[in-house]
Order: sequence, then structure tokens, then C-alpha cells
Amino acid sequence: MTDHILKKVDRDEALTPDKIRYLLELSDEKELQALYDCAYRVKAKYVGKVAYFRGIIECSNICIKDCYYCGIRKSNRNVKRFQMDEEEMVREAIWAFENEYGSVVIQSGERQDAAYIELIERVLRQIKAATDGKLGVTLSLGEQTEETYRRGREAGAHRYLLRIETTNPELYKKLHPADHDFEARKNCLALLKKTGYQVGTGVLMGLPGQTTDDLVNDILFMKDLDIDMVGMGPYIPHRDTPMGQAIPPYTDEQKQAALTLGLKMIAVTRIVLKDVNIAAATALQALEHSGREMGLKCGANVIMPNVTETEFRPNYVLYDNKPCLDENSSMCRGCLTRRIQSIGETIGFNQWGDSKHYEKRTT
Ligand code: 5AD
Ligand code: FES
Repeated sequence: MTDHILKKVDRDEALTPDKIRYLLELSDEKELQALYDCAYRVKAKYVGKVAYFRGIIECSNICIKDCYYCGIRKSNRNVKRFQMDEEEMVREAIWAFENEYGSVVIQSGERQDAAYIELIERVLRQIKAATDGKLGVTLSLGEQTEETYRRGREAGAHRYLLRIETTNPELYKKLHPADHDFEARKNCLALLKKTGYQVGTGVLMGLPGQTTDDLVNDILFMKDLDIDMVGMGPYIPHRDTPMGQAIPPYTDEQKQAALTLGLKMIAVTRIVLKDVNIAAATALQALEHSGREMGLKCGANVIMPNVTETEFRPNYVLYDNKPCLDENSSMCRGCLTRRIQSIGETIGFNQWGDSKHYEKRTT
């Protein structure tokens, strides 16, 4: 059966939800390898064997939201809150530019106050001015108004990441307090498209109570929404969160299972969505040293090296075991470059590496 389905993929035939579910349920080592190899062929054909770097600037851990799974949720009193100043953010972006990263991602906890929106706007304009418009900038700042999204776009950001987290509204409710509204989040994705961003979304995998059918629906949701980029990763408990406290830390077996599920989702998403950009989430590396390279081998084509100043890193911990907390940006650059070259891929230095899907849907 696996062989039969993968041959369909090689012939570019669409898969039914049942076949998508079948692939997500694979557990036999050989069959899994066949799935990963097939996804890699699809990646090579549609987006090439190039890994694009996006330097991630984690500019603030202040957050008005209280998601039950996230380490920087507002109720977590053990977090030392920080907010980088303008100069620091611009400095990190310029570091990324000078180190040949084609683009950066500015990410933070969610804040909607005017002072913060204005700060981001100023930073965007300064980055654009300092790099002659050459450094691509992605925002990942959560749910905002249409007006805020528009201002970000006008100040120079061209991509936006907003994970839907799960597309099952019932599960969404269990992961969030009552005032975190699934429909509002979904609407934000529509607003991002409307305001002209390349839009990325994604989900958490391996959540308590999540079924394979949920994951099938997650993939179909991303396809139906015609999204350009995917950023998704395994859920990893954080000890200072309600969800993390309800379950003991992962055993080695649980880590392995979470990793396999993460890789399967990347592979099947590549097979179904084909020409989108897919990031190998840092969370994969929290489960296994070479997790991010494994992600690339299963169909991902984007890596987000951390370019945040080392002093801030220990305060931006969304899940336990987050890698690279003691490293600096140069170390991560060297480390990831070696890791990627070791699997025979090239790095798309100095390129924006826009989603081929976006190019197609807009020309
Ligand atoms: N495990 C894995 N990913 C997490 N995120 C937040 N908390 C966790 C966790 N415990 C992810 C969310 C968010 C992204 C920035 O980090 O999916 O969208
Ligand atoms: Fe940061 Fe390897 S990616 S040290």
C-alpha cells in the first residue's frame, strides 16, 4: 500500500484524505524511510535542494496571551521579561545581513499597544535603510489588527508567520483560555493575505488529545488556505506551564515518538503542498541533536538560525530543552552550515528565498 501511494505521489497525483492519514500512521522503519525519500524527491523537484536561512531575532518575551503550553505565557512568573531596544534589534538584523542571511524573522510574544507597534515600524524602516532594502524581513508578532498588519507591510516586512496551532476548534479551546478565539486567529490569516504578505502558518504536533484525523485536517487546512509557508513543530512540555505540569517530562521513547511524528508531518505536508517553504523547526533539535537536518531530509527547506544576542536567549524559552541557549550567533551559523553541508545541500546565502508557491499565485 505504501509503495502504491508513493508511486501516485511520484506521478503527481493528488492524495485522498484517507491516503494522507495512512501515511501519517506509518510506523515501520523501512516504510518511513520510503516516505521521507519520496518527500525529498518532491522537495528537489518543486523547490530544489537548497536550504534558506532566516536569522531569528527574538526581540521580546513580553506577552499578553496565556496559552497553556507556552513557556513565555503571561502567567509564568519565573520568566524574566525583556524588551530589546531599537538599536539592539537593528544591530542583530545587520549582523544577519553581513553574514549573508537573505532574511530575518522578528519574533516576540504578543503585544498590541501603540508603543510596541511603533517600535516595530521604526525598526523595520531602519533595517531597510541600513541594508538598502536588501534584507528580507518576516514578522512573527501574533494577532494584530488589519491596520497594524498594513503598517508593517508598508514599513518593509513582506512575510508573516502566524501558527494556527491546531485547526480543531475543540482542541484549540483546551489549549487556550476562553478569550483566545480560534475564529479570530483564523481571521488574522485572512487579513495577512489581504494586506499582501507571504503568509506562513502551522500547527503543534503530538498535543495531548490530538488525533491523526486532526493532523490530516491541519494539512488540508493549509492547502485550502493556499498558504505560502509552513512552520510547524512537535509540542514539547515546558515545566512552568499548566500543560507541562500535567504530564511528566518526555522519556527517551516519547522524544523519539515526537520526533518521528514531526518528521512525518513535514514529509506529508511537502507531498501534499509541494511548492511551499517549510521550516525545520528548532523544536526538532530539542528532541534530537540532528533533528533539524533530519527535517531537511524529510522535505523542509528553511532553517531559522538564532541571531539573538546570547544574554537574551535563556529568557526566550517556549519549551524545555531549547537548543543553542549558550551559543552565540556565529556559533549557530557555523554549526548549522556544517550540518547542512554534511547532508549534501547548499545554503541559499544572500537570497530572500521566497516561497515558489507565492511566486506562482501572484504572477
Ligand atoms: N512546544 C513546542 N512549540 C511551542 N510553541 C509554544 N510553546 C511550545 C511548546 N511547549 C510554539 C507555538 C508558537 C511558536 C512561536 O512556538 O506553536 O506559535
Ligand atoms: Fe546553534 Fe548549532 S544551531 S549551536
